[in-house]
Amino acid sequence: MGKDVIIACDFASAEETFKFLDKFEGKKPFVKIGMELYYAEGPSIVREIKARGHKIFLDLKLHDIPNTVKKAMSVLSRLDVDMTNLHAAGTVAMMEAALEGLTRPDGTRPLLIAVTQLTSTSQERMENDLLIKEPIDQVVLHYAHNAKIAGLDGVVCAPLEAGKVHERCGDGFVTVTPGVRFADGDVGDQVRVTTPEGAKKLGSDYIVVGRPITAAADPVAAYERCCREFIG
Ligand code: C5P
Repeated sequence: MGKDVIIACDFASAEETFKFLDKFEGKKPFVKIGMELYYAEGPSIVREIKARGHKIFLDLKLHDIPNTVKKAMSVLSRLDVDMTNLHAAGTVAMMEAALEGLTRPDGTRPLLIAVTQLTSTSQERMENDLLIKEPIDQVVLHYAHNAKIAGLDGVVCAPLEAGKVHERCGDGFVTVTPGVRFADGDVGDQVRVTTPEGAKKLGSDYIVVGRPITAAADPVAAYERCCREFIG
């Protein structure tokens, strides 16, 4: 599995996004397009960034009945992204349907990654709001295993969970990990953070990094530092 740094392009418009990407000149970092940018600009933003030569993780976290997710994934597969995702809470049947929809007529498809429990969900909220009484780390591993059973490629998880996910689901099961900060940087609203070097040691396959790069005085230097520390 090729390790890589994915930049979270959490911008509100195409204009802001291209202003940011233009700073990279010849370089073509792997970028994540989330709901904010996708809902603001529509599928054209994906096509335009792809045309510039970037790999794309389309982070839309689908969650609906299997038939609806299958059809939506079939539409997304035509955007030619490299990675996309859904909520494992949608059940194994939904994940299997998603995988079917995402697979192109020639048999190729983007990587499909599951969100287990969002990092914003605490043990208390999970128990009280969702009536899930198991320890949250067990729930995360159970959902990861469901994703594996459904044939998905991996999960989004905290770097600290990457080792356990690999233990349960195998080394080839991809871990995509946000919550990355430089040792000397601002933590912001992330709670459990790890440095790029720490994420490497913990076995993350891809790190997703937003503000430490997008809000840096020199984003290109911050990206290169991330690559040096994570990939080596
Ligand atoms: O700016 P920052 O590095 O915190 O950005 C992290 C990115 O990863 C954001 O796009 C955020 O939505 C996403 N993410 C996260 N935690 C999760 C899942 C996704 O921070 N559990």
